[in-house]
Amino acid sequence: MTLSKAEIVNLLNDTAGQANLLQKADKIRQQYVGDEVHLRGLIEFSNICRNNCMYCGIRKDNKLLHRYRMSPDELVETARKAAEMGFKTLVMQSGEDMFFSQKVMCDIIEKVKKFDVALTLSIGERSYDDYKAFREAGADRYLMRIETTDKELYHRLDPNMSWQHRHECLLMIKELGYELGSGIMVGLPNQSIESIAEDLIYLKEIGIDMAGIGPFIPHPQTPLKDEAGGTLDLALRTMAVMRIMMPDINIPATTAMESLHPQGRIMALRGGANVVMPNVTEGEYRRFYELYPGKICVDDTPLHCKSCVGMKIMSIGRTIGQGYGGHNGKLPIKKI
Ligand code: SAM
Ligand code: FES
Repeated sequence: MTLSKAEIVNLLNDTAGQANLLQKADKIRQQYVGDEVHLRGLIEFSNICRNNCMYCGIRKDNKLLHRYRMSPDELVETARKAAEMGFKTLVMQSGEDMFFSQKVMCDIIEKVKKFDVALTLSIGERSYDDYKAFREAGADRYLMRIETTDKELYHRLDPNMSWQHRHECLLMIKELGYELGSGIMVGLPNQSIESIAEDLIYLKEIGIDMAGIGPFIPHPQTPLKDEAGGTLDLALRTMAVMRIMMPDINIPATTAMESLHPQGRIMALRGGANVVMPNVTEGEYRRFYELYPGKICVDDTPLHCKSCVGMKIMSIGRTIGQGYGGHNGKLPIKKI
C-alpha cells in the first residue's frame, strides 16, 4: 500500500492507535506471508571494525572492548553446526574487518554453501568487485541498514563515512541479484518522526526484500552514552507501518526489541514481523559482540536459543518455516 509522508507521520505519532495499527499489520502479514516464521541463524564472527559509528559498541575507538576474530575454519565449523541444527538460512555478520579479504570470504562462502543453506552476508561496505565475487561464490542475500536517510544526522553519527556511498552499495547489491535487506534505527539523537517517515519511503523505493527496524540503545562506552535511546513502542509502530507499506517482504522481530522488553520479539511477531534471527555464535564471543548493553542471550548456547525461540513462536500459534524463507519464495537464487 502506498502511504503519503503525512499519513506515515500520523501513524507513527498515534500512540493511542498503536494496538489497532499492530493488529492491522498482523492481518496483512498473515494474508501475504502466512503464519510461518523463518529462522535465520546469526553468526557474529568478528567484532573488529575499521569504522567509528558513534552509536555502536564495537566502534574502533572503544578500547575497553575485548576484540575477537574467528578463524575461517572456525567460522565454517560454526556454520556447519548451525546447518546441522536445522537452520536453512545463516547470516554471517561482523564489523568491517578487512582480514576477511575477497579471497578469504569467497573461500568461506563456497564451503558454507555446501551445507544446503541460504547465505546472508552482513559485513558492511565493500567494493563492487567484492560484492560480485561474493555473489559468484554463492552468497544469496546481503544485509546492510541505511541507518537513517537524514544525511546530516548520518554524517554526524558515522564520521568519515558517506551516506551516498552506503546508498550506492545498496544499489550495487541489488543490481547483483542479491536479496537485499536494509533497515534503520529509531530513536537516534535528533531524529525526527518526519525523517523516520522518509526512511520508510526510501526503503520502499529502493525495493528491499527485508527490513530490520531496531530501537537505538545507547552503549556506555560510546559518545552517545547519555542519550535517551529509542523506545520499543516507536520501533513497533515503525515496523508495523513498514508491513503495511510493503506487505510481502520479510521483517525480523529484532534482537534489540527483545533487549528492551522480555516479550519484545513476540510483540513484534504479533505486529507484522515474520522472521527471527537466533544467535548461533558460540561461547565467549557472544558477550564481546556488544553493539549495545543488555543484549539478550549472551550466556546461552545456540541450541538453547533455537529451542527457546521455537517455543515462543509456537506459543502464539505460529509455525516454524522449513524452507529457505526467501522473499516471494525467490530462493534459492541461482549463482551468477
Ligand atoms: N558492519 C556491518 C554493517 O555496517 O552493516 C554489520 C554490523 S553492524 C554492528 C549491525 C547493525 O547494528 C547496524 O546496522 C546498526 O543498525 C545496529 N546497531 C549498532 N549499534 C547499535 C545500538 N547502539 N543500538 C541498536 N542497534 C545498533
Ligand atoms: Fe563498525 Fe559498528 S562501527 S560495526
